[in-house]
Amino acid sequence: MPQLFSTAYHQCRWNYRDEEDVFDVDSKFDEHDIPYDVLWLDIDHTDGRRYFTWDKVLFPNPEEMQNKLAAKGRHMVTIVDPHIKRDDNYYIHKEASDNGYYIKDASNRDFDGWCWSGSSSYTDMVNPDIRSWWADKFSYGNYVGSTPSLYVWNDMNEPSVFNGPELTMPRDALHFGGIEHRELHNAYGYYFHMATSNGLVKRGNGKDRPFVLSRAFFPGTQRYGAVWTGDNTAEWEHLRVSVPMLLTLGLTGISFSGADVGGFFGNPEPDLLVRWYQLGAYYPFFRAHAHQDTKRREPWLFGERNTELIREAIHTRYMFLPYFYTLFREANMTGTPVIRPLWMEFPAEEETFSNDEAFMVGNSLLVQGVYTQRAKHVSVYLPGEQSWYDLRSGAAYKGGKRHKFEALEDSVPAFQRAGTIIPRKDRFRRSSTQMGTDPYTLVIALNSSKEAEGELYIDDGKSFEFENGAYIHRHFKFSNGKLTSSNAAPSGVQLGPLTIRHGNSPSFLTIRRPNVRIEDDWTIKIL
Ligand code: GLC
Repeated sequence: MPQLFSTAYHQCRWNYRDEEDVFDVDSKFDEHDIPYDVLWLDIDHTDGRRYFTWDKVLFPNPEEMQNKLAAKGRHMVTIVDPHIKRDDNYYIHKEASDNGYYIKDASNRDFDGWCWSGSSSYTDMVNPDIRSWWADKFSYGNYVGSTPSLYVWNDMNEPSVFNGPELTMPRDALHFGGIEHRELHNAYGYYFHMATSNGLVKRGNGKDRPFVLSRAFFPGTQRYGAVWTGDNTAEWEHLRVSVPMLLTLGLTGISFSGADVGGFFGNPEPDLLVRWYQLGAYYPFFRAHAHQDTKRREPWLFGERNTELIREAIHTRYMFLPYFYTLFREANMTGTPVIRPLWMEFPAEEETFSNDEAFMVGNSLLVQGVYTQRAKHVSVYLPGEQSWYDLRSGAAYKGGKRHKFEALEDSVPAFQRAGTIIPRKDRFRRSSTQMGTDPYTLVIALNSSKEAEGELYIDDGKSFEFENGAYIHRHFKFSNGKLTSSNAAPSGVQLGPLTIRHGNSPSFLTIRRPNVRIEDDWTIKIL
């Protein structure tokens, strides 16, 4: 179960240069009224690509920097890769080589390969003792300059070896127990991710959930953190393929996944960047990232109109956070992916089988990407026998049919399925943390029998207390003109019914401030 903040928007770039750059980007988000939760630091925040260290000139006060962001409810992420610089003055290398913690080459010497840090060796994460040693490196005492609002990014953990055969470790390299690399290549990245993730749990005495993003993964990775699809390019086709890639990952049980929004290599034209934000807002993991050789592309750099469009896209994600979090809980309990191919929800409809340009977020939302420049129209297949409500206009469209829509500039087509209730939080804040006590909005989309159902899962968003029952899980049902909130587990008082009177059956009804608490049982009757 991810921490709530990690399901919100992440801002990354290779590299945010120094503390001044970090503060500048952070405050520009506020100036432009764009929410974000996490600012990321890539390899060049370190002292010569020695992970767990800071470049003392560029980042002289890392703790102060993190605390300043944390005061706005924001977090930071630093990168920690598995290639360890072979430098005798670097404590990680010293300990790893002294203890014999490195993977060996075929002649039983420490394997030496080339990666971001130059000549490097790789700790043998297959060995549980080495994983435990690694995990301890994340304690606040060991990782100097880290604070509780700092989380981690694991990259190059395939492992990537620039001068290796097939860009990775030779197949005859030797691991713990004399096992050749060829036997466990695909699992190496997973063990590295596991060790890091365990480290973040350990540093807080097991209280807080970890957040670690990994580039390499294996079955089981979903227990340790998020993944992304690696180095894509700022091209329309890469925007399009992100959808089948993420859907496939979800089906393998790895729900918490995303693609670099904007494309890692190259410079996206504003139209592509905006469309990427509009689609990426529905990725389970939502992070913008860019290569160091690309032009800066923070959301406010493309003129007022584009800033507005990107703000709107990111805001959409924040609105839907309660829904996403509920879906993450479903994934946590059952393995059901957060985003789903249409055929998963509509298995009887052949028309959905080959459709990988649209997807479902949970069972209630359908999202269709726009994958061409200056698109005028988008064709959307809306499955099922029920109708769909356009998120923008509220207009209803028939299911079981392909529709041609005008491609609007301000969003990609997205629809709420009739018969569903989606929980949202519509107030505009700087970060998800600041939305904690905001009221919920329930969007009820009635089906032809004037009924709808939905769910909301809430916990502290941070600790493991939910495993001891510290959570709220509500079931909402609308029928016979009554909206009822009930608990899955039996609980106390049944309030209400509260009665709301209104005129003749409009297609939209907004109930403001009903004065009910989200954790209580209640019924609202609409006359
Ligand atoms: C790899 C990663 C990329 C990162 C870069 C530098 O290419 O995939 O995301 O920015 O390394 O660390």
